[in-house]
Amino acid sequence: MTDRRILVTAALPYANGQIHIGHLVEYIQTDIWVRFQKLRGNRTVFFCADDTHGTAISIRARAEGRTEEEVIAEMSEAHQRDFAAFGIEFDNYGSTNSPENRELCGQIWKSIREAGLVKEKDIEQLFDPEAGMFLADRFVRGTCPNSDCNAPNQPGDNCSKCGRTYSPAELVDPKSTLSGATPEIRTARHLFIELSQLHSFLDEWSQSGKHLQPEVANNLRGQFLGDPSSEEGAKELRDWDISRPAPYFGFEIPDSPGNYWYVWFDAPIGYMASTKQWCDRKGENFDDWWKSDDTEIHHFIGKDITYFHTLFWPGMLKTAGFSLPEKVHIHGFLKVDGEKMSKSQGTFVMASTYLNHLDPDCLRYFYASKLGPGLGDIDLNLEEFVNRVNSHLVGNIVNLASRSAKFVGGNTLCDEYPDDGGLFAAAAAKADLIAEYYEQCDFSSAMLEVLQLADEANRFINDRAPWKLNKDPEKAGEVREICSIVLNLFRQLAVFLQPVLPKLAEQAGELLNSPITNWEDAKTPLTGTPVSDFKHMMQRITKAQVDAMVEESKVDETADEAAASENGSQWNDGPEALEAEPMTEECTIEDFVKVDLRVARVIAAKDVPEANKLLNLTLSLGGGETRNVFAGIKAAYKPEDLIGRLVVCVANLKPRQMKFGLSEGMVCAAGPGKADVFLLDIDDGAVPGQRVH
Ligand code: 2FM
Ligand code: ZN
Repeated sequence: MTDRRILVTAALPYANGQIHIGHLVEYIQTDIWVRFQKLRGNRTVFFCADDTHGTAISIRARAEGRTEEEVIAEMSEAHQRDFAAFGIEFDNYGSTNSPENRELCGQIWKSIREAGLVKEKDIEQLFDPEAGMFLADRFVRGTCPNSDCNAPNQPGDNCSKCGRTYSPAELVDPKSTLSGATPEIRTARHLFIELSQLHSFLDEWSQSGKHLQPEVANNLRGQFLGDPSSEEGAKELRDWDISRPAPYFGFEIPDSPGNYWYVWFDAPIGYMASTKQWCDRKGENFDDWWKSDDTEIHHFIGKDITYFHTLFWPGMLKTAGFSLPEKVHIHGFLKVDGEKMSKSQGTFVMASTYLNHLDPDCLRYFYASKLGPGLGDIDLNLEEFVNRVNSHLVGNIVNLASRSAKFVGGNTLCDEYPDDGGLFAAAAAKADLIAEYYEQCDFSSAMLEVLQLADEANRFINDRAPWKLNKDPEKAGEVREICSIVLNLFRQLAVFLQPVLPKLAEQAGELLNSPITNWEDAKTPLTGTPVSDFKHMMQRITKAQVDAMVEESKVDETADEAAASENGSQWNDGPEALEAEPMTEECTIEDFVKVDLRVARVIAAKDVPEANKLLNLTLSLGGGETRNVFAGIKAAYKPEDLIGRLVVCVANLKPRQMKFGLSEGMVCAAGPGKADVFLLDIDDGAVPGQRVH
């Protein structure tokens, strides 16, 4: 048992919009990690808040004829309702527009001033005379200033056609998107933080190998910091503009009246302000959490806000004498069916719309099965979503309980754990590996281990078939033994899945009258406890439910359509076709029955970069038997979407040495070729190794 003290945050959602399924990737990821740490017995707290300041909120409030405070109060309630519905449990949910945040901003600002990091510069900015406000880049559009391009209707920071970056003041014929007025150029004094003074600290912190994923550290070095030991040397860090002139919805800077902290200055301080509220409520000492070497601080964020959290934020913390993040965990974006979420296609799904149609735990599980430790985007393929939930969760895991509990409901588990041929012990031996996967945010590997254990448990119950023995009263003892084993194997899986599916773990606790409270619960079988009557745990989902959710999410938005179509489908661009082989010889029924078709689970899948058509799959046939197979399905499937899936494989095909390695089988698929190749699907409850007839 460990006894770490861990403070965790997820990015603060903007108060100008509702939570959608893209946001949920991060909150579900963080919640899983937090629940895992809590289950391990580590003292862990999880903080979040609404990010309330800035121009966007003012614009929304104005459009709705309300005050900013009214908008943010309503949004905070809606956000918290959505999070709770998805089982995302914070220890405190605050707001950046709080007295605690104002106080902490002042304190940190004072340290930054005293360290001599603040300087002032005059800045030319576009001002909308009708709306009476300065315009952030995205509220101005005009013609691209590049004379070779001159694309119309471009945003204020960079041209979507030629890619050139510029300042909004350079746009030709600029127009405010708020009022349509032609903006004026006004000069205002801004305050800057001179980041270059923190260069060597940022080099050391970001490149230590401890706090950032390697690709993030490399990217920071390549794009911002440079390499002091190389020939090109260190790069100059640009000053960070942290003030905005009035009118601005935010906190006025105490020693610079008429200027406000830019939203990105006070937003991360909101992590601390949320902690402070919790400390005051719980009688905790704030410095134990933000100034102690005994506390690890972990931030979870999306890749779009990397620089704020890996350059500015550590710089602010260091200067003000607070603890630095132990780790910033960065994830990729969500795609739906391989494309950017789109309002017109109904794939920009709000959390509340999802809840009208589907069980939140299905999304928690699906995201867990997709999330690895890297920054790659994750794809919510809607067909795969239905298949995974039905086949993994309902067919493979919950079925274990429903197929065994009914024979022992009202009785107790055996007083002594029966001989199960080593199944429970083998799964217990996996506990440390699965824990390490969770620790490293490699949830997809953790889920795969759990699935394989479920395969073994299903094989056991299928072999022993208590539903047959139950017909013979003399076999009642044997039935009880079998069910005691299966229910214990189910409970073990429920422990391993508790961070992802806390409700399922709770139901397992109720079924066996012994709550799951610690990771160690997976290591000892339960004996003698009463078994309650089986209550429904999770339901299969249907494509019709998903279709209805997509339909409800459809918004007629031409602009959004254009954005989505820029992002070509990864599924249709695959390389050359799979050509159908002509049949040259007849196959007799005797020939055909020789073919040993078996259910297999894909436990690893990777691209073969040198091959046009091939993916390299590792198939599990159960009982530890695996096969290495090369399959010509590159144009139809992405490797990561295959992992965990059940397929039909020809298990007795003579191994064939190929250019890229030995192929020890074949997976069965149908379709005309190219992207239209479909792996044969297997019914729920199938177990790897089973013969297919
Ligand atoms: O990108 C966003 O949605 C920001 N509201 C995240 C802020 S995170 C933290 F720094 F406050
Ligand atoms: Zn251009």
